[in-house]
Amino acid sequence: MACEMPSNLILIGFMGAGKSSVGRILAARLGRCFVETDEMITAREGRPIPEIFADKGEAHFRALEDEAVRLLALKSDDVIATGGGLPCREGRPEALHAIGTVVWLSGDFDTLYERALRGGDRPMLSGRTREQAEALYEARKPFYAKADLAVDTTALNPDQVAARVAAALAERRRQAV
Ligand code: S3P
Repeated sequence: MACEMPSNLILIGFMGAGKSSVGRILAARLGRCFVETDEMITAREGRPIPEIFADKGEAHFRALEDEAVRLLALKSDDVIATGGGLPCREGRPEALHAIGTVVWLSGDFDTLYERALRGGDRPMLSGRTREQAEALYEARKPFYAKADLAVDTTALNPDQVAARVAAALAERRRQAV
């Protein structure tokens, strides 16, 4: 019996993987709405993520992510970019699988780290050495690896990554028929 796939497309991966840029391109390409969990959180709190971390700490931010994940269950057919740490907690991979197809934008650590440092204020990197950030990536990989699909972004630009994701999804749909 063919079973229906959950309808959202969910991008996960470490900081610097390109989840937001790729998500925007994919949403336009597939004619879907684009949603970012970090945007849901900043809209709810009325201030940027670095301020939330500085004022209330990481534990509070993770609780806000829990709420965002609950709200994602109301969505269908959207492209959703998650924050880098969102899938890396007990129960989160399962919660994401329940609402869509999960795609890990992977990459080698040096490339992701360089991109993340170039890309603005990231509280999870600001208090860490390069080695500590790499240890964080290693600790998160088992969670990311629970995705339905993975695309290595190391040598690709966001357009190329979006094309690979779209092709992988089309192939997956063909196999499911
Ligand atoms: C985080 C990544 C950020 C943001 C927050 C925490 C993390 O998102 O959710 O700063 O724990 O890796 P990006 O992955 O888009 O940078």
